[in-house]
Amino acid sequence: MTYLTYTSSVLLVLAIVGAAGGAADKANSGISKKAFGTMPDGRTIDLYTLTNNRGMRVAITNYGGIVVSIVVPDRNGKPGDVVLGFDNLEGYLAKEPYFGALIGRYGNRIGNARFKLDGVEYKLPANDGPNSLHGGLKGFDKRVWTAREIRGEHPGLELTYLSKDGEEGYSGNLSAKVVYSLTEDNALRIDYSATTDKDTVLNLTNHSYFNLAGEGNGNILKHEIMINADRFTPIDGTLIPTGELRQIAGTPFDFRKPTAIGARIDADDEQIKFGKGYDHNFVLNRSGAGLSLAARVTDPESGRVLEVLTTQPGLQFYTGNFLDGSIHGKGGKAYGRRSAFCQETQHFPDSPNKPSFPSTELKPGQTYHQSTVFRFSTSK
Ligand code: GLA
Repeated sequence: MTYLTYTSSVLLVLAIVGAAGGAADKANSGISKKAFGTMPDGRTIDLYTLTNNRGMRVAITNYGGIVVSIVVPDRNGKPGDVVLGFDNLEGYLAKEPYFGALIGRYGNRIGNARFKLDGVEYKLPANDGPNSLHGGLKGFDKRVWTAREIRGEHPGLELTYLSKDGEEGYSGNLSAKVVYSLTEDNALRIDYSATTDKDTVLNLTNHSYFNLAGEGNGNILKHEIMINADRFTPIDGTLIPTGELRQIAGTPFDFRKPTAIGARIDADDEQIKFGKGYDHNFVLNRSGAGLSLAARVTDPESGRVLEVLTTQPGLQFYTGNFLDGSIHGKGGKAYGRRSAFCQETQHFPDSPNKPSFPSTELKPGQTYHQSTVFRFSTSK
């Protein structure tokens, strides 16, 4: 064998081994589908599982676009499910507080369940005292979405929903599309887009309830959080922003340095009392368009870390103050008060009634785009 032929044979063997190795690496990554339950009207609902090669697994159902589970390793490599939810569709069909769901058309509250757009007053269902919360009585969280599996470089799930003109009081036929994808840096990415045929308002988000110690595993008061915000939007007694953008310095809302969630959650503070803990929108410090870091949460016990990146201007930090142990989730576990926290990336609550807040209007010819990334890692 000449030197040249020898070299090329070695290269050929290396190339074959390399390709096989590559295929083996990819073997775990992908998307699978199974039945999740049946709607009262007979429609069947599926559960899609996205898997990567780094030990992360995300299950999503086309009912409400709900993220049913997120399994990620702790610092010792032990997998754990870090979001609250139910084992089957039935759990989600009963009254429950938006576990993991896509929220629309308007995430968070619209004051007095009404707003004016182009001089016309729109009346919405009041489902939270006098206010309209999370899209009304039958928001996007309770709709059946059309699912399409994505088998590209990263496994993904595309969900689409056509919200008819007048649905839950909102104007315009709204075509909404949400793409969930799972990447190799253990991140769940959510890309939202929408178009309308009439002027309308829109504020889409995801309502996952995280517990980095694992769902059903106690409260989140010892988790440490950093929120990249110098200001928040103070609220009235019905949780509607007053319109002020208040500095957080010197208040229990200063999370610029990582601080235990529980450190000041029961502080003698009017805003804390209104929220019964944290249930407030933070004005994110942003540098330009694109994804920027909104928050980082660490569980010192398991070492799990969640970073939240978003294109949105705001972040609702909610500490599960309304959970009271009466809901039994996966495996029958009772979900107690503050047993999870939410990171609802969003426009500010009640923006349609607050001209000084960034606009939530969407007009025909425009395309709404927002993205949020939930990225997991571990710390020592
Ligand atoms: C949002 C709200 C909370 C509460 C939950 C659902 O996070 O801001 O006040 O309504 O949804 O229980």
